[in-house]
Amino acid sequence: MTKENRSPDLKSGKGAKDYSKYFDFSGAKVIAEEEGKTTFRIKGRTIQVNSQPDYREGKRRGKEEIEVHYDFAIPEDMRTFGEGKLYSITTYGCQMNEHDTETMKGLLEQMGYRSTEDRNQADIILLNTCAIRENAEDKVFGELGHLKHLKTEKPGLLLGVCGCMSQEEGVVNRIMAKHGFVDMIFGTHNLHRLPALIKEAVFSKELVVEVWSKEGDIIENLPKKREGMRAWVNIMYGCDKFCTYCIVPFTRGKERSRRPEDVIAELRELARQGFKEVTLLGQNVNAYGKDFTDLDYTFGDLMDDLRKIDIPRIRFMTSHPRDFDDKLVQVLGKGGNLMESIHLPVQSGSNAILKRMSRKYSRETYLELVRKLKATVKDVVLSTDIIVGFPGETEQQFEETMSLVREVGFDMAYTFIYSPREGTPAASMEDNVPAEVKSERLRRLNELLSEQSRAGNDRMMGRTVEILVEGESKNNANVLSGRTRSNKLVHFEGQKELIGTFVHVKITDTKTWYIKGEYVAETAAAL
Ligand code: 5AD
Ligand code: SF4
Repeated sequence: MTKENRSPDLKSGKGAKDYSKYFDFSGAKVIAEEEGKTTFRIKGRTIQVNSQPDYREGKRRGKEEIEVHYDFAIPEDMRTFGEGKLYSITTYGCQMNEHDTETMKGLLEQMGYRSTEDRNQADIILLNTCAIRENAEDKVFGELGHLKHLKTEKPGLLLGVCGCMSQEEGVVNRIMAKHGFVDMIFGTHNLHRLPALIKEAVFSKELVVEVWSKEGDIIENLPKKREGMRAWVNIMYGCDKFCTYCIVPFTRGKERSRRPEDVIAELRELARQGFKEVTLLGQNVNAYGKDFTDLDYTFGDLMDDLRKIDIPRIRFMTSHPRDFDDKLVQVLGKGGNLMESIHLPVQSGSNAILKRMSRKYSRETYLELVRKLKATVKDVVLSTDIIVGFPGETEQQFEETMSLVREVGFDMAYTFIYSPREGTPAASMEDNVPAEVKSERLRRLNELLSEQSRAGNDRMMGRTVEILVEGESKNNANVLSGRTRSNKLVHFEGQKELIGTFVHVKITDTKTWYIKGEYVAETAAAL
C-alpha cells in the first residue's frame, strides 16, 4: 500500500504550518531526512517523524476509492519479538476504541506478547485515547505524568499513545514538547503498523511519530482478541457529518463501509464460535453503504441479511436520525435477533440549536422517526445522547430539550456539557452561557432522565423476561447480572454455570438504573 508520508517543514517554513504555538522549534536540529521521514533532535531527545496529523488534510473528503486488503501479515522479523514479554493497554472512550484495542491485542499476541493487568510488569504500555471532550484528554495527560516514573525506573519499557488524541495536531506537538519519554505516537488509521512501529522505536531508540491524516484503506484480516460472549463488529469507519461541535470527522476520517460479504462472513464465524451477541459499530451506521459505487446496498439491507444468521442478539451503535430510513425501520420491525433497543442521539430539542449544530434534521422530523419506530418495532426502548450548554443555548432552548425528552420518553441517555474542540466550527462560536448555568441544566436533565428510567423499569414489574447472563455482579458474587433484549441491567441469584446462557427471570423489584429478578428455572432457554 502506498502512503503519502508527511513531515513538518522545519527548515524552509514554506507551506509549513505554524507549530510555534505548541512547540519551540528554535532549538530543533534536523539530523536526517530520507524517504519522507525526518529525524530531528531537540532537548536531548531524538524524534523520528514519519507523518504528523494535519487538520486541513483530515477534513478533506476526496473521491479516491478505498481499497480493501486481505493480505495483512505481521512482518516476519517481528513474529517472535514479543515472546516472554507482557503488554498492557488502557482504553478510553467509545466502543470503537474498545474494538481497536481488541485489534491491537490481537497484533501483539501474534507477535508473542501476553497481557498483564499489572503495569509494573509490562514491557509495552499503550494508551488508546479519546478526544471527544476535554476531560477525556485531561485524563490521558494525567496518566502520562504517572507513567514517566515507570519509564525512569525501567528504561526498556515501550510507551505508546494512540487513538483519537493522536490525530490532533495540538496533542502530538504537546507530547513531543512535554512528554518526550513517550516512544510511539500513532493514530486511528494505521493500527496495523503497530509491529513495524515497535521495531522502529526499539531499534532507533527514537520517539516515532506516525499519524496519517488521510484515512487508510480497509484492512480485512487483522487479528482480534475477543473475550466473553459478546463481540463488536465494525461495519464502517469514519464520519462525513461534520456536526459543528464534533472532532470525530477529523480523527476518524471519511466514511468507508466494509463490504457486506466481509461483514456477513465475520458474523457467521462469530456464530460458529458460539458468540451470543454482536454489536455492529460505526460512527453513523445509517450511512452504511452510501460510499459503494458498484452496489445499491444500505444498512437496512445489511440488517435484513444479518438477521438470518444464527447470532441470538444483534445491536448497533450509533445512529444518525437523518439517515435512518424507512427500510431500516421496517427491517427492525421484524424483530427476531434484531434487538428493540435503539440508540438514537438527538443532541438537542431546539431547532435553532440543531441548526447551529448542523445536525440536518429538525425536532419535528426526529419525533416523526420516533413515532414510526414506536409503531413498527414492538416494545421499542429508545436511548439517546444530549449536549447541554451548546454556545448561546437559551433557557427556552434548553426547555425544548427537556420537553422532547419527556415526549419521547427515553429510558436512558448519555448527557454531556458542551466541550469546545479546537479546529471545529462551534469552538469559535460566541458562548455567553456561564458554566454554572450549564451544570445546573445538566443536573435538571439528569434528574428527569432518572425519573424516566425508574418509570421504565417499574413498567416491567412482575413480567418474566429473557436475559443473557453476562457475569457475576460487581458487588456480590452470589448475584449474577445480565441484560434484557431492551438492554436493561438485571440482577438475580443464580449458579455461575448460567453465565453465557439465556435464562428467564421474573422481575421482582426495580431501582433507577437496574432491576432485580428471580430465576425461573423451568423456562431456562438453552440457546
Ligand atoms: N462536547 C460535548 N459532547 C460532545 N459529543 C460529541 N462532541 C462533543 C463535544 N464537543 C457527544 C455527542 C455524541 C457523543 C458521542 O458525545 O452527544 O453523540
Ligand atoms: Fe460526530 Fe456523530 Fe456528528 Fe459524526 S454524526 S460528526 S461522529 S456527532
